[in-house]
Formats: sequence, C-alpha cells, structure tokens
Amino acid sequence: MTTFSTTAVHGAVVGRDIHGSLRGPLYDSVSFAHPDARSMELTFAGKKPAHAYTRITNPTVSDFEQHISAMCHGAPVIAVSSGMAAISNTILALGGAGTNIVTSRKLFGNTLSLFEKTLHPWGLEIRCVDMNNPEEVATAINAGTRMVFFESMTNPGLEVADATALSLVCRRKKVPLVVDNTVMTPYLFDAGRAGAAIEVISSTKYISGGGTSVGGVIIDHRNFDWSQSPRLAARTKKYGPMAFISKLRQEVYRNIGACLAPHNAWLQTLGLETLDMRIDKSTANALAVARFLDNHPRVRRTDYPGLESSPHPLRAKAQFNGRFGGILTFDLADRDQCFRLIDALELIRRATNINDNKTLIIHPASTIFNEYSGE
Ligand SMILES: Cc1ncc(COP(=O)(O)O)c(C=O)c1O
Repeated sequence: MTTFSTTAVHGAVVGRDIHGSLRGPLYDSVSFAHPDARSMELTFAGKKPAHAYTRITNPTVSDFEQHISAMCHGAPVIAVSSGMAAISNTILALGGAGTNIVTSRKLFGNTLSLFEKTLHPWGLEIRCVDMNNPEEVATAINAGTRMVFFESMTNPGLEVADATALSLVCRRKKVPLVVDNTVMTPYLFDAGRAGAAIEVISSTKYISGGGTSVGGVIIDHRNFDWSQSPRLAARTKKYGPMAFISKLRQEVYRNIGACLAPHNAWLQTLGLETLDMRIDKSTANALAVARFLDNHPRVRRTDYPGLESSPHPLRAKAQFNGRFGGILTFDLADRDQCFRLIDALELIRRATNINDNKTLIIHPASTIFNEYSGE
C-alpha cells in the first residue's frame, strides 16, 4: 500500500516533463493558445482537457489540485486563492437568500465574520449550536438548511467535535457536512473517511511549506448525493457526482475570480512534499511546550489536545491518530501579562499564521477577534 508520505512526495505523478525536470514547470501565463476555433469551443464547453484562461484553469494549478487529490483517495479538488475563498465559494455554491447554515460560534474569527457580517445581510441565516452535541445539531437542521459547517479542530479554541457522529446526523437529515480541516490537514484527519461531504482547507498554513504563500482548496469527498441539494438537484442530472465541482468550476469559482496564482500553486506543491514531516515535528514541539506551560506556576490554563487535562484527549487521539497539531493556547492573569510575555520573547515571532517553520505567538482577543466584544 502506498503510504501518505510516498503520495506526499510523488503526488499524482502526472505527465512527465519533456526535459525530465523533477520539479513541475511553472506556467506563469494568463492565456493559452489553441490550434483552431473548434479546439477553443470544446475547451470552453469543458469537453476538451485543455487550458484557456488562468482564472478558470492553469496547468501548474492543476498539478497542485491533482497532488492534493492523490492524498485524498482521488477526490475531485479545486484550488482557490485563500482559505477564506474556499469557504466563501462553497457557501455561495450551496446556500442562498432564505436558506441557513448550521454551525458553531467557535470558529476562526474571519470565518465567523464572513458568516455573520458578510453573508447574513444577503439573506443567509446563521444557526449557531454546540458541535459537541449532535442532537442539538440535528434539531437545528430544517428544510432551509444547506449545510452543517465545523472545524476539525477549532482555531483557536482547539475544540474537537465527533466528526463521525456529525456525519451520521447529516446523512440522516440529508444535508452535506462541510469541514474546515485547516488545522489538522488530510495528514492528521481523513475527512472523507469520517463521512464529510466537503473539506475546505487554508493551504496558506501547513501545506504552503513554511509560510510562503496564501491559498486554499475545496475537496468533494463524494459522500453526498447532490440531487438532495436544492441548488444542485438539476445539475446532478447532467453531472452526477461532479455536480458540486462543476457548479464551482463552470460558474461560482469562475465568476468570483478568487483563483490560486500559479506561482503559489508551485510553492504549495513543493510544500506538500514535506507536509507530514513538518507536522510531526511541530506536533512534537507543541506537546513539549504545552507540558512545560502546564506545569508553570504563572500559567493559569494551558490548552493542547495532547494534554490529559484537555476537554477531549481521547476523542482527539482517536480522530487524529495520536497527533494533535502545532497550535496551543495558554492563559495568564490578564491582558497586560500576556502583552509583557509576548514583548519579551526573542526567538518566537509576534506574527499571525499557523505553521510557519518558525514559532509564532499572538493574543487572539486583541487581534483576530478584535471586531468582537468580550462575550
Ligand atoms: C481554521 C481556518 N480557516 C480558514 C482560515 C483562512 O485562511 P486564509 O488566511 O488562507 O484565507 C484560517 C486562517 O487562519 C483558519 O485558521
């Protein structure tokens, strides 16, 4: 059996380069020429696997998509310009005015802001529930629900919902389960096997390989019958299991224009090759730092799912194969002490990101969540 590491290094082994280059070529071009008008017609109709315009497809971006697909059991993938673009494209393809999504308030700050401040005024209802209570999730779902959305490990709350229980609720209620797997990546959490319909990832984080570039991916795990989705039912007759991906490629993703730059796709394909090694290393480092902080008299609370004191160590262990990722949080007495500690650090950088190769620190309340009240 091919291991995750082997697939990470070799990818989908798509077309060999004519010069034998082991690193795929970077097609930093907007447009692609065709031999004749018929070829252009077929390409625009999606009937010929050729490229026309980089906002829609690009060979370097396709290589990256196929590499991710190989790591996700061949699931169809669309790469986009950022993690936020992955989330917004997914919601714009499935939801709409007068519909709702069931989610949790424990989300990455900009995701919550996208839902409540950007999409809610366009008529999307946001139903916030406790993702650790599958029956509460089930009760919140009604005829207008277009998806259940959660994070495999919440950032920065580090909560871990039972993904299999959520997927069973969604299957029973016939709504797609969408998981933001940024913090765990397909290496630590196999979203498809857990029953998720769609996985979105900010590839800016672990995948980019050391904080090189912003990007995102959308993966359709083929766990959902799209004829059950009101916005895709008609399309399913023509495209079958590709209804969601074709809706993005031929309409939503194309029209929104948040495409991944070829150069970023090239960097991120390189990043994929070392994904598992970098995650293993940052997981081991985070656990060591978490244990140190957990025993420190001036630290009030340390949260890392690898600690026995975390709310869900057993669930996290089972769901993520005994590895817990590279984020940890801790509380000091007050904001002043947090700022003093942050300002005193010499090696650790005051910066926002997850999995730069360097360790980073941030005070979430005064930065990522600064548009929200204390509550
Ligand atoms: C869980 C999660 N989802 C989405 C995003 C957004 O990703 P991007 O910055 O690539 O848009 C982030 C960014 O930190 C994140 O942590």
